[in-house]
Amino acid sequence: MSVIFQQGEREEVRLVEEIISAYEGKPGSLIPVLHETQKVLGFLPRWAQERIAQRLNINSSEVNSVVSFYSLFSEKPKGRYCIGVCKGTACYVRGSEEIIKKLQKELGIEVGDTTEDGKYSLEVLRCLGACGLGPVVTVNEKVYTRMKPEKVGDMLQDIDDMEKRSEGS
Ligand code: FES
Repeated sequence: MSVIFQQGEREEVRLVEEIISAYEGKPGSLIPVLHETQKVLGFLPRWAQERIAQRLNINSSEVNSVVSFYSLFSEKPKGRYCIGVCKGTACYVRGSEEIIKKLQKELGIEVGDTTEDGKYSLEVLRCLGACGLGPVVTVNEKVYTRMKPEKVGDMLQDIDDMEKRSEGS
């Protein structure tokens, strides 16, 4: 079956091919290739995983199990604002689960999903090394410490403000 790619998709395929070529033949290249590919595409769609498997001569189910195993890899497109809630022991004990529940309710999505408008993704993170400041929540590069469910509304307002500022710039 032949696959017809649109212009943008063709560019994505070209970029992925370039990444694979840079690592082809080098031992231990799977993780860096997946990493670079995710950097360029924002996630790891099935077609890219298949292509990587084919070119690196690895079974595609093996590639997919690596992608599923490591939480830094995602098979779904992420939102413009990726909200990560730390569920390491210290943050969990201090109530990160309640924050997750509040975010799920406010955003109408489950952990691992992205809102339909592509604005938010919600994910759970492992310990970020700031346990004393927990519960810790990240929004892209920004870090919110000592979070509480009551502060979720302000954090979402912050994101709206951030988006308005970036639209205005
Ligand atoms: S457990 Fe959350 S930062 Fe360590």
